[in-house]
Parts: sequence; structure tokens; C-alpha cells
Amino acid sequence: MSDFALNIPKNHYEDWQLDAAHKHLKNFDIEEHNLVDVLHFFQDTYGYIDKALIPLLAKFFNLSKAEVHGVISFYHDFRDTKPASYILKICQAESCQAMGSRALTAELKAALKIDFHETSKLADITLEPVYCLGNCSCSPNLMINTKIISRLTSEKLNQILTNLREVQDD
Ligand code: FES
Repeated sequence: MSDFALNIPKNHYEDWQLDAAHKHLKNFDIEEHNLVDVLHFFQDTYGYIDKALIPLLAKFFNLSKAEVHGVISFYHDFRDTKPASYILKICQAESCQAMGSRALTAELKAALKIDFHETSKLADITLEPVYCLGNCSCSPNLMINTKIISRLTSEKLNQILTNLREVQDD
């Protein structure tokens, strides 16, 4: 059995700081960037969108706080809490579902004792849904941080969880 997850780097994020967020925002040119670009930057930097960013972004883009909040909640990629070192995204779209992703999702939730958008207390893992990874011909698919694991099976899933626990115990 392969070591599916042993070489995947952990996620590292800056700790949230309002002053630093102000400085980051000054690097954006409002003519060149839209709100979604900037939200992605902050999520990549901090791992999530802190609620204190909403008034900052509203002022920067001359929008209401409700408008900024509306954009954040429209995209299910944006999260409101810091994720774990490993983010597992299991595909819920049609092709992966046809190849068994629902049952694999249930196995994953049971093994980690969490639902989507939660972080497991048993491992440094956050679980999220994803809606097509562009790899439908090799369904079902799981992404661990930036690495896609194709043709997922129950056996592969167990090995992945074992590998991720081994990495964390090192
Ligand atoms: S439907 Fe899962 S990768 Fe496309």
C-alpha cells in the first residue's frame, strides 16, 4: 500500500492581526483587484476570513458590510475559522457521486467524528466538501491540501488517515 499522505506539506498560516491586515490591504490596487481576489489572498494568508475583515473590506471597496458578507457566504470555499494543518476536500459532484463518494464521505465523517466544515479532535484535519476538482475521469477524488488522490477507495481512505496520524505523531 502506498504512503498517500506522508509527503504532503502541512498548511501554515499567519496569526490573525488587524494591523497586519491593514498593511496587506494597502498593497492592493482597487482598480486591478476585485473583492473575491482579495478574499482569496486573506484566506491564503490567515486560513480563513476573520469577521474583523468585513468592515475593512467594505470601506476599501466602498460597499456595505452586508454586501461583503453576502459575497463571502456565496462562495462555500471561504471559511470563518482557522483550519487544521491538513484540509481534506472530498468531491460531492456528479461524477464522483456516481463512483461512490457519498459512502466514502460517510466513512470519513465517521472516522474523524466530524461533519463538513469541522476540525477533528482525533487528528489535525479539517473536512470540507468540494464540487468537482476537474479530475472526473479518475473519480472519486479527494484533495489533501493541494494534492489530489484519485480513484479513492475505502482502503485508500484508511491508509490516508493512518499516514496523516503517523505524520502528526512524529
Ligand atoms: S465530479 Fe469529482 S472531480 Fe469532477
